[in-house]
Amino acid sequence: MVSTPLYIRATPTPDVRSQPGADTRNRQLRDLRISVTDRCNFRCVYCMPKEIFGKDFTFLPRAELLTFEEIARIARIAVAHGVEKIRLTGGEPLLRKGLEELVRMLAALKTPDGGDIDIALTTNAAALIAKAQPLREAGLKRVTVSLDSLDEATFKAMNEVDFPVAKVLQGIEAAHDVGLGPIKINMVVKRGRNDQEIVAMARHFKGSPYILRFIEFMDVGTTNGWKMAEVVPSAEVISRINAELPLEEVAPNYPGETTVRWRYRDGSGEIGVISSVTQSFCHSCTRVRISTEGQLYTCLFATQGHNLRALMRGGCSDQQLSTEMVGIWQERTDHYSELRTAMTQQPSSTGGKKIEMSYIGG
Ligand code: GTP
Ligand code: 5AD
Ligand code: SF4
Ligand code: SF4
Repeated sequence: MVSTPLYIRATPTPDVRSQPGADTRNRQLRDLRISVTDRCNFRCVYCMPKEIFGKDFTFLPRAELLTFEEIARIARIAVAHGVEKIRLTGGEPLLRKGLEELVRMLAALKTPDGGDIDIALTTNAAALIAKAQPLREAGLKRVTVSLDSLDEATFKAMNEVDFPVAKVLQGIEAAHDVGLGPIKINMVVKRGRNDQEIVAMARHFKGSPYILRFIEFMDVGTTNGWKMAEVVPSAEVISRINAELPLEEVAPNYPGETTVRWRYRDGSGEIGVISSVTQSFCHSCTRVRISTEGQLYTCLFATQGHNLRALMRGGCSDQQLSTEMVGIWQERTDHYSELRTAMTQQPSSTGGKKIEMSYIGG
């Protein structure tokens, strides 16, 4: 018999569909996450370990990337079917040439009732000083910045390219100055690597305009050497901060938010925890992902995509593309994080190779 470890507190979702357009677990499509490049100038240990993504690693050739027109076409159809939020990711999205042009195309889209789309970008901030202003002018609403430590040695050991903390902080400020907020800061916590920095990070961003989120190290892809022992459960993160800076839990901003929010009792702002490993949020997952080469994935941990690029380059009509996308969503059954316990214990039973984070986006 396989016993369930105590750290898993998943609530299995019922297999029911009662709303039109929903997937098999009654979840609506609301978010589109688009990876615009599989390249990155960092080699974060939990995402693109340099032993795998070394000098000889072959990235996708340009012709295989979706063009901006193809991305915008998918986005337009997704928006017609309920998407209200688009997040540009990578790899590092700012490495994609002319990204402002894509932002401009996406910013022109409107929801069926005429509303604006929330367009966000996840970045390592290396190029933000130069790019914040043009991106804002193109219609980007906000950025989320990855920053795993404020300690120079720890940060450099996480990004593996000797990138300094100060330059990330300058990038964050540049984004703030042009109004790309609310800015969120993502810290992936890996035990033994940067967990000693949790309280220092909290202290640094407390009282600032930035919202710090602590993310549990996830078993995404197959190359990051994930081990449960290196996951710091969010409950532990909260208890370590709370011991020094008292916290209280806050209600979510919207149903299905990945983050559990906490605020400082002294009124000096909030933090968040994203607990895909210890407290899955699949029951309210409204996200679909487009990989750099135009595969649609219905889960971050999927082993199989749906090739929209082939359809588009084969000359399909908008109606055909739309029917395909809606059909894929309606047949969606994914709830990987709820199943992770069994999968983690029996890695060979996952049946196929999970795609890498740098290829599908965070
Ligand atoms: P906003 O609320 O729009 O600011 O964004 P968000 O809460 O979706 O956060 P963000 O896009 O920054 O995602 C933060 C991190 O949460 C990602 O980098 C992933 O590590 C994790 N994450 C986001 N979406 C999913 C998901 O669907 N499944 C899992 N398992 N993890 C996710
Ligand atoms: N676990 C958790 N989050 C990850 N990210 C990348 N790899 C992982 C992982 N293994 C997320 C981080 C980063 C974003 C680009 O992707 O949040 O900020
Ligand atoms: Fe690059 Fe972001 Fe992955 Fe780090 S987490 S390697 S910055 S894509
Ligand atoms: Fe959604 Fe898959 Fe993440 Fe669950 S594991 S929240 S289904 S993307």
